[in-house]
Amino acid sequence: MQLQRTIFIAFLFTSTFLPCLSAALKEGQTCVADSNCNSGLHCETCLANGNVRPRCTRIQPTIPTSKEKGLPFNQYTWLTTHNSFAKLGDRSATGSIILAPTNQQDTVTSQLNDGIRGLMLDMYDFQNDIWLCHSYGGNCYNFTAFQPAIKVLREIQAFLEANPSEIITIFIEDYVTSPRGLTKVFDAAGLRKYWFPVSRMPKNGGKWPRVDDMVQKNQRLVVFTSKSAKEASEGIAFEWRYVVENQYGDGGMIAGSCPSRAESPALNTTSRSLVLVNHFPDRPDITQACKHNSAPLMDMLNTCYQAAGNRWPNFIAVDFYKRSDGGGAPAAVDVSNGHLVCGCGNIDTCKPNMTFGACNLPEPSITPAPEAEAHDLASSGRRPVQGRWLLGTVAVASFLSLSI
Ligand SMILES: *[C@@H]1O[C@H](CO)[C@@H](O)[C@H](O)[C@H]1NC(C)=O
Ligand SMILES: *[C@@H]1O[C@H](CO)[C@@H](O)[C@H](O)[C@H]1NC(C)=O
Ligand SMILES: *[C@@H]1O[C@H](CO)[C@@H](O)[C@H](O)[C@H]1NC(C)=O
Repeated sequence: MQLQRTIFIAFLFTSTFLPCLSAALKEGQTCVADSNCNSGLHCETCLANGNVRPRCTRIQPTIPTSKEKGLPFNQYTWLTTHNSFAKLGDRSATGSIILAPTNQQDTVTSQLNDGIRGLMLDMYDFQNDIWLCHSYGGNCYNFTAFQPAIKVLREIQAFLEANPSEIITIFIEDYVTSPRGLTKVFDAAGLRKYWFPVSRMPKNGGKWPRVDDMVQKNQRLVVFTSKSAKEASEGIAFEWRYVVENQYGDGGMIAGSCPSRAESPALNTTSRSLVLVNHFPDRPDITQACKHNSAPLMDMLNTCYQAAGNRWPNFIAVDFYKRSDGGGAPAAVDVSNGHLVCGCGNIDTCKPNMTFGACNLPEPSITPAPEAEAHDLASSGRRPVQGRWLLGTVAVASFLSLSI
């Protein structure tokens, strides 16, 4: 009987939606599968926002250097994944099941292919090697250990090799105490030749080297550690000399407030040229992430802009970066890049060689609000579609209630 009901719903579903699915669909349009959507989009609902209608939502930001390559590195925003290595559904490489929280849905290679350029990695000494792990009482265990760091570092190496104009930044939450442990693992992964040297990082709030210069010199890997001593001993930049960050976790998700992270200098410390905005809860939550990565993230960008002394962030760090109700974290990155790259509201309005701030072009349409969309459909005389839409919503809702 459940099967019959499922078949009936599947029939209702396809007969409702198939007519609209002949062409590649744009952001916000109703879909059934990822393959219905244009590239850079996937198909999902956001139940946390009450959006039961599956729609094409963005998973890729615009790569800002596709618009302008000649600006200092600190004049771009990069989408960053929090705990990039903690992939949902993974088993520990020790063979154990993982009992630690997970923060992302796909591999680091897949993240890089989607335009992620900042990676947050927690590194520990474990089993005579360096592992990506979460701690439990300060230690790494089989059930919190994801995989040896070298595996992910090799994925990064392969991406840099295959994409000679791209720059990646790694933020290490560093628990490694073995002598030169990090140096050894980065060398073994073949990443030394991409290393951006600490000596070229501005020490007093100056501009970073230009991106095209970093590319030309092949200094395309920027690495920060949370351990200050490693800057002198291993040439790995101590993050808080170069970066300010807001509070991560629940404390960083209170609308209208953007406190600094405890380890970081105050956000408005302009002797640090890079600004990082964290926006994810204490406990990663894939069901709420679509909401967190949508309007509240965009609002927090404005709040943190002011708290950082009128500076847009260079890094926006989220959990489950693919989850949103439309534009999500990629759209937030595009807005920030618009301000940084050409002085306009969105990177998509930046034109080659345009004068900074000459924004006389109309803004590109961002995700239409559901009301606006319904209105669009009605006013364009396509009322039958709206009827189908409602029917589809009911079908999807019953489908979801069946499968949960
Ligand atoms: C942890 O995993 C290793 C294999 O990587 C295994 O040899 C060891 O026995 C495991 N430890 C525990 C406590 O299960
Ligand atoms: C930085 O922000 C603090 C509040 O967090 C404020 O007291 C201080 O005056 C600000 N400094 C500058 C230089 O704006
Ligand atoms: C932008 O400026 C550069 C350098 O002046 C020039 O080579 C290039 O052709 C210009 N691009 C466009 C699209 O005008």
